[in-house]
Amino acid sequence: MHSTAPTRLGAAAAIKLHKPGSIEDEVLKDAASPQIEFRNVTKMYGPIGAVTDFSLSVKQGEFLTILGPSGSGKTTALMMLAGFEAPTSGEILISGKSVTAVPSYGRDQGIVFQNYALFPHLTVHRNLEFPLEMRGVKAAARASLVQRMLKRVHLEDFGERLPSQLSGGQQQRVALARALIADPPVLLLDEPLGALDRNLREQMQGEIKSLHREFGKTTICVTHDQEEALTLSDRIIVMRGGRIEQSGTPEELYDRPESRFVANFLGEANLLDCLELDREKATQNTVSMIRPERVRIFKSKPTALPDQTQRCVVNGTVEDMIYAGPLRKYQVRVGDHLIIVREHVASGQDIFRPGDAVCLDWLRADVRLLSA
Ligand SMILES: Nc1ncnc2c1ncn2[C@@H]1O[C@H](COP(=O)(O)OP(=O)(O)O)[C@@H](O)[C@H]1O
Ligand SMILES: [Mg+2]
Repeated sequence: MHSTAPTRLGAAAAIKLHKPGSIEDEVLKDAASPQIEFRNVTKMYGPIGAVTDFSLSVKQGEFLTILGPSGSGKTTALMMLAGFEAPTSGEILISGKSVTAVPSYGRDQGIVFQNYALFPHLTVHRNLEFPLEMRGVKAAARASLVQRMLKRVHLEDFGERLPSQLSGGQQQRVALARALIADPPVLLLDEPLGALDRNLREQMQGEIKSLHREFGKTTICVTHDQEEALTLSDRIIVMRGGRIEQSGTPEELYDRPESRFVANFLGEANLLDCLELDREKATQNTVSMIRPERVRIFKSKPTALPDQTQRCVVNGTVEDMIYAGPLRKYQVRVGDHLIIVREHVASGQDIFRPGDAVCLDWLRADVRLLSA
């Protein structure tokens, strides 16, 4: 979701009123300029490059996720943006101004930390009041803002509780409310749903999405959870060993991964070179890949279809079938290798058991060439 920024656009338009020329040009330029920018940022801890040559622009209102395995530098990148860590080299800009020398309290950002970091000795109400107090908001205004925000996150009856008297999901909602209450232009989330169980995580994903839709904050979220990244983001940056491996929309990354690393990190990937099926396409430095849901499974070789020549067909034996509610996942042995097939459960379809001989087929166009 890309929302516009009424206040900044208003300011740009107002400035422009003094001069002849196109207001629209100025407004467009302002909306398109990045709100957050990393320019060749490197962070060394001793000899270790936690983040290396990291460059990134984030647009106003964008929801950007930094995704990567543990230790890939995600939190370090976020902490530099928040002002808790200083880059070893490079520059970070917010709204076009370098903030390298600005301490964290001078950067107008709402932050949700990995472990929520609520003040344990303060009630929910007092936790929410805190950022407002820091900004000098008067008591009466504070009370009404807190009330409104508690209502927004469905916790209006929990204001007098301590964090320890709340469930994980409720604490998480308090943390989000506290990050948003002072209306910061930027929201930073570090593994916001990491501590929640699956159902709650899905529910909170919906909650975060709807808060983003409603408040339109530029949001940077750090996670190792691919599903969270795919669900929430306008754009995803995949990190590997402190560097950006690939960036793009969720669809781009999932459907057109450029490397084996990205293909495996976002979803499951069948590597096909072992089967020597796409020899003509692959080179020494590439490997071909097909997603499990792009592979079809049959009892016997499918009768000739109009698109036959565009398909690859192989024979195999089912080794395993996992039933997971709406889908079945098969592991099929083809020669030396296992191919994963993911099929949506539907009425009337054949169900295969270990030992069954099957045929697999897929469209050649669905095969991706990756750097190895
Ligand atoms: N304060 C620190 N001192 C030394 N090394 C650190 C520090 N913080 C992070 N690192 C190292 O930097 C790398 C990236 O860490 P981090 O940004 O926390 O990764 P992630 O959030 O992706 O799990 C890791 O190798 C980690 O051990
Ligand atoms: Mg981390």
